[in-house]
Amino acid sequence: MPASRSESVSYSNANASQAILRTVDLGVSFGGHQAVNAVSTSFHGGALTAIVGPNGAGKTTYFNLISGQIAASQGEVWLSSENVTALSVSQRARKGLGRAFQLTNLFPRLSVLENIRLVAQSMQSGRHHHGFDFWRIWSDAADLIEHATDILRSVSMAAQLGDPVATLSHGDQRKLEVAMLIAMNPTVYMFDEPTAGMSADEVPVVLDLIRDLKTHSHKTILLVEHKMDVVRDLADRIVVLHNGQLVADGEPAEVINSDIVQEAYLGTRGGARRGLM
Ligand SMILES: Nc1ncnc2c1ncn2[C@@H]1O[C@H](COP(=O)(O)OP(=O)(O)O)[C@@H](O)[C@H]1O
Ligand SMILES: [Mg+2]
Repeated sequence: MPASRSESVSYSNANASQAILRTVDLGVSFGGHQAVNAVSTSFHGGALTAIVGPNGAGKTTYFNLISGQIAASQGEVWLSSENVTALSVSQRARKGLGRAFQLTNLFPRLSVLENIRLVAQSMQSGRHHHGFDFWRIWSDAADLIEHATDILRSVSMAAQLGDPVATLSHGDQRKLEVAMLIAMNPTVYMFDEPTAGMSADEVPVVLDLIRDLKTHSHKTILLVEHKMDVVRDLADRIVVLHNGQLVADGEPAEVINSDIVQEAYLGTRGGARRGLM
């Protein structure tokens, strides 16, 4: 037994200056309810952090505060050495913050391929300031289509690339959201329950993609995920939110076995695991 609950788990964020993403006392309250309460932590390149906690813990709200979909009522969001707290969602996205697209961000009557191409193109625009260059525009367009096709292949959606987004199954819509995020090529990937509502055979496709991102690129990945075996398998670190507060942060084995997590979410040591997510 620890001497006190606040002892909990060691923090691995001493070197905040090298962090790709940092939140400082970040919080918001909805009508007096503090949904996210002064969360300070940082995320480093090449690491996958799982964010867990019971339903209503504030995980999605924390993501929305980071991406800018919700304005903070307290605290700051830093991307590398820049304070982005006052920036819009799209400004933050341009600076490398990648939050999965919701279907409402897509063009339902355009094809899957067109939607991916538009995202890839929008992330490229502003990079060419060479004046009008017909050859460049043509070759860029061809490259973008090839690039978009590759991304769709990686989520096993090559067969649907010509389909209008509006006609996709629920599982394919979820896979497309992940594909759109990859097309943004962000520095920080934020996945909020990416496999929710997917069929058993679709789940590994998306998890393998996330594993590939972690293994083959030096991306910073934040993942909210319900399935504990997935968290154990993929996470380099686990952050636990509870009632809007960060209550544990550290190595997966350390966090899962910590007294605070065992007592608060699992009942007692060795108890059932339900409730952790
Ligand atoms: N837009 C909102 N307006 C009011 N309350 C909200 C809003 N979004 C979330 N909440 C509340 O904030 C708390 C955290 O919710 P959420 O971030 O969705 O939790 P989680 O993703 O961990 O399940 C919940 O109590 C939820 O009801
Ligand atoms: Mg949520």
